[in-house]
Amino acid sequence: MCGIVGYIGPREAYPILIKGLKRLEYRGYDSAGIAILNDNLQVFKCKGKVSALEAFVQGKPLHATMGMAHTRWATHGEPNDVNAHPHYSQSESLAVIHNGIIENYAILKEGLIKSGFTFQSNTDTEVLVQLIEYFKNSGISLLEAVQLALNQTVGAYAIVVLSKNDPDLMIAARKGSPLVVGIGKDEFFLASDASPIIEYTKDVVYLEDEEIAILQRGQKLKVKTISDVETFPQVHTLELNISQLEKGGYEHFMLKEIFEQPDTIRDSFRGRIQLENNTITMAGIIDHLDKFLNARRIIMTAAGTSWHACLVGEYIFEELLRIPVEVEYSSEFRYRKPVLYNDDILIAVSQSGETADTLAAIHLAKSHGAFIYGICNVVGSSIARATDAGSYTHAGPEIGVASTKAFTAQVTVLTLMALAIAQKKGTISEERLKEIMIALTEIPAKVTQILNKAKEIQEFSKYYTYTRNALYLGRGYNFPVALEGALKLKEISYIHAEGYPAAEMKHGPIALIDREMPVVVIAPNKGHYDKVVSNIQEVKARKGRLISIITEGDVTVKELSDHYVEIPETEEMLIPLLATIPLQLMAYYIAVFRECNVDQPRNLAKSVTVE
Ligand code: F6R
Repeated sequence: MCGIVGYIGPREAYPILIKGLKRLEYRGYDSAGIAILNDNLQVFKCKGKVSALEAFVQGKPLHATMGMAHTRWATHGEPNDVNAHPHYSQSESLAVIHNGIIENYAILKEGLIKSGFTFQSNTDTEVLVQLIEYFKNSGISLLEAVQLALNQTVGAYAIVVLSKNDPDLMIAARKGSPLVVGIGKDEFFLASDASPIIEYTKDVVYLEDEEIAILQRGQKLKVKTISDVETFPQVHTLELNISQLEKGGYEHFMLKEIFEQPDTIRDSFRGRIQLENNTITMAGIIDHLDKFLNARRIIMTAAGTSWHACLVGEYIFEELLRIPVEVEYSSEFRYRKPVLYNDDILIAVSQSGETADTLAAIHLAKSHGAFIYGICNVVGSSIARATDAGSYTHAGPEIGVASTKAFTAQVTVLTLMALAIAQKKGTISEERLKEIMIALTEIPAKVTQILNKAKEIQEFSKYYTYTRNALYLGRGYNFPVALEGALKLKEISYIHAEGYPAAEMKHGPIALIDREMPVVVIAPNKGHYDKVVSNIQEVKARKGRLISIITEGDVTVKELSDHYVEIPETEEMLIPLLATIPLQLMAYYIAVFRECNVDQPRNLAKSVTVE
C-alpha cells in the first residue's frame, strides 16, 4: 500500500530514489512522484507506473543530494496526476509523502479551509501537509510542527517531510504503516521496507508507532516520539541479499517465486527437523510450551492467501493435536465481538507482516490476554514485532503481487508447529511423527518433479485463455487448495473463479456447469477419493470441462479429464504443498496468454496496510 523512499547524504539522490521506487512498486503502482531539495523544493509527479515518472522527469533539473519519492495505491482520490504524491503545502515550502490513511482528514480539512487554506487534491495526505504548515506558520520548528500535526491525526501513517527552509533536514514518522531507516556513512535512507536500502547499508532501524526520525545532514540519527520523548532504537543488521530482489532470468517474479519453492520449502524446515533424534525444534514453541499445552483453543487469523494457509493449518492442527481451531478473516474478527479467553492462542499468519487488519486482530486478542504467535515472512515487520513469539517462514522476499512461495512456506511452518506440539502433548506416536517428518523432507524433490511439468501445464493452459469463469473443487485438506487456486486465477488473469468444497457444488454452483465451464478438481488418491470421483461424474454429466490434479498412476479420474496434472504420492496432510503448484502455474500461464501484468495485477498491492 504505497511505497516510500527517502535519501539524505553526499550522493546524487535521484538514482537512489528511482531505483528504490522500482523495488517498492509491488506496494502500489497507480501513480508515482518525487521531491528533491536543493536551493528549491521541487515536486514532479504523474499518473502511472514508476516508468511513467522516469519518462516524465527526463530533462528536468534533478540535481540534489536529498529527496523523497512515492509510488501510490490510491485510497482517497482517484489515481491521477494531482492526487499523486508528494503533496505540497499551500506555500509550497513543505512537501509530504504518505502511506496510510488519515481517518479524520475531513474535519481537519474543514478547519484548515476556515483558516484560509485551499486544496488541490482529494487526498487525505494534502490535509496533513497543510496542517504541518499551519503549525509551522506560528514560528515553531519543523519537528515541533510535525509533532503537533501528528498529535491531531487519527489513522495510520508513514510519512516523510521536506521543508524548503530546512535544507539539511528530513523528517519521517510512522504509526501503523511501516518505515525503515537505513544508516550509512554520513547518509540516511528511508523506505517502506528494506529492499531499496540493502544495496547501500545493512544497518537499519525499524521505527515504532508514533516515533519520528530526525535525519539531519552530518549528525547521528535522532528519534523522538510525537510527544517529544527521545528514544534509542536498536540498530538491526539486514540479512537480505540483492539477488533475492531480482528476476534472475525469469520473465516474471511470480514465475521465479513459483520455481523457488523446492528451496523455500526446504528453508522453512531447515534446522527445525532433526530426523536423527525424531524431534522438531522451534524456539518459539519450546519457549512457550506451557501455553500450547494448556490452550483452550487456537484461533488462526490472516487475510487472502495467508488465510488459505490457515485453513490447511486448521485441518492439520485438529488432526494432530485434537484441539479446537477456528480460522478467522482478520478483517471480520477485529470488528466482531469475538469471545476470547486468556488461555486462547492466536496464530497470526502474514507474508508481509504489515496487513493492517491482521495487526488489529492481534491487538484485539492481546487486549483479552490471549497469547499471540506470529508466522511472518518479512523479518522485523510490524506483525513479527507485535507478537509474543513466532516463527519466520524464511521464504525470502516475495515480490510478485500474487502470493506463491509464501503460501507453501506458511503451510510448512504450520505443519512443523503442529508436529512439535503434538509430540510434546503426546497426541502423536513417535512412529507416525517420523513418517510425517520424512514425508515433509521429501516434499522439495516432489515439488521439483511437478515443476518439470511446467511445459505441459503451459500447453494445456492456452485452451483456457478466453474462459470467463472457472470452478475449483476440493475436499478435506484440498478444499483450501481449491480456494487458493481460484484466487490465483482471478487475481492475475481477471477470470472469475470460485473455490468450493466439492460436495457443496450440488448446493448451487452446479447450476453454472455447462460445456463452457472449466472445473478444476483436486482429486488425489488420499482422503475422500471415491466421493470426489462421484463429484467429477456430476460435472461430466453436465458437460463441464475437467482439469484434474491427480496422484501419479491414477486411471479413473485421468480418463474422465480433459487435462490433468499428476503429482507424486505423499501424506494426505502434505498434499496441499504439492497440489497448489500446478494451480499456480496454470494461473500464471493463463494470465500470460491473456497478456495480463502478472507481477502487478490491476487494483492490487502486495502489502495491505489499510483496512
Ligand atoms: C494473494 C495475496 C493476498 C495476500 C493477503 C495477505 O495472492 O497475496 O491475498 O495473501 O493480502 O497478505 P499478508 O500475507 O502479507 O498478510
